[in-house]
Amino acid sequence: MEKIVISSNENIKSEILIEKGLINSIEDFINDNFFLITNDTLAKLYSDIVKKFDKKRVIIIKDGEKYKNIKTYTQIINKLLKEKIERKDTIVALGGGVVGDLAGFCASSVLRGVKLIQIPTTLLAMCDSSIGGKTGFNSQYGKNLIGSFYLANKVLIDPVFLNTLNEYQYKCGLGEIVKYALIEKSCKCEINYNLLDVLSKYQSLDVKKEIEYIIKACVHLKARVVELDRLEGSLRKILNFGHTYAHAVETLSNYKKISHGEAVAYGINCAAKLSYNLGIIDRDYFNRIDYLLNKFQLLQKEIKYKKTDIIEIMKQDKKVENQKINLLVPTAPAVVGLFDNIDLPSIEASLP
Ligand SMILES: NC(=O)c1ccc[n+]([C@@H]2O[C@H](COP(=O)([O-])OP(=O)(O)OC[C@H]3O[C@@H](n4cnc5c(N)ncnc54)[C@H](O)[C@@H]3O)[C@@H](O)[C@H]2O)c1
Ligand SMILES: [Zn+2]
Repeated sequence: MEKIVISSNENIKSEILIEKGLINSIEDFINDNFFLITNDTLAKLYSDIVKKFDKKRVIIIKDGEKYKNIKTYTQIINKLLKEKIERKDTIVALGGGVVGDLAGFCASSVLRGVKLIQIPTTLLAMCDSSIGGKTGFNSQYGKNLIGSFYLANKVLIDPVFLNTLNEYQYKCGLGEIVKYALIEKSCKCEINYNLLDVLSKYQSLDVKKEIEYIIKACVHLKARVVELDRLEGSLRKILNFGHTYAHAVETLSNYKKISHGEAVAYGINCAAKLSYNLGIIDRDYFNRIDYLLNKFQLLQKEIKYKKTDIIEIMKQDKKVENQKINLLVPTAPAVVGLFDNIDLPSIEASLP
């Protein structure tokens, strides 16, 4: 079993366990004081896990990013309060990033905070969203605008869940994994995982062969970044690579037509183009990034919105400071840099 711990300097600890078959021993981690939050798809697929919880303490939400909103949040909180949740209780989030983000925010806010266990079931959630304590939901003004930083006490990662994930969702996880490959050297992790080389070896979904190594690498990279900068004062911003563009097109699509992973791939592509146009990276590295994103078929969907609309939303993004769009761009293989002086015409030119 792999164990990676995030210990922040405020004495907050988050333990991440990674092992195939870990879920078979879920009884070791839960008891009567646990609430389960999952969605209707997973409740059917994994009814054996759901059955291990007291029926009254199981909360099933509707499946989909469009339900990651204040209405679902209120429904969950009301159910928790109706069932008389206490401070000693624990919320277990079983699902992808949508369930994890919403359940995490419920755990952070109900009774001013109860314990939280994340059981990520998508590749994206295993590699990214279940780690590091960002929780929340979307508002009509943009993605994830309401939320908190709230580390899960435990994250139980069992790659077995990936067996029921469809190809499309698998690829969405790869969007976030390519992000880690392109920021690896900026992450200050003591181990060199060489993710960029590992991903370059495989054609599309053949990458499954090394998925456990890849999950561990992403988790470890993120854990180190979060440990050094839990509240995103500086270093943690690198995890938003590609995301300012991504959130803009996700907002314009009303969270329906494109997945988060595809949006991130779109954002990485734009950021690479911006960097190349500005003479920061050379043609070879630009081509390498482009090849990687295409190889995993992450740029297949045509994402076409008015450039002025995209930029308007990028300006509203929560990472905007002093009316300048702060953007992360690749500067060298596996290295990114944060720039705050990029003019709007350059950003416009980086959009497809
Ligand atoms: N908190 C963070 O740090 C962070 C980081 C990245 C992304 N996110 C958020 O994560 C969300 C995207 O997460 P996602 O890609 O996991 O999407 P998701 O949670 O919507 O899951 C994708 C689909 O796969 C289904 N599914 C989940 N596990 C399955 C399994 N094992 N087998 C079969 N089907 C399964 C879900 O029901 C859903 O239909 C976005 O809302 C994004 O903002 C958060
Ligand atoms: Zn993301």
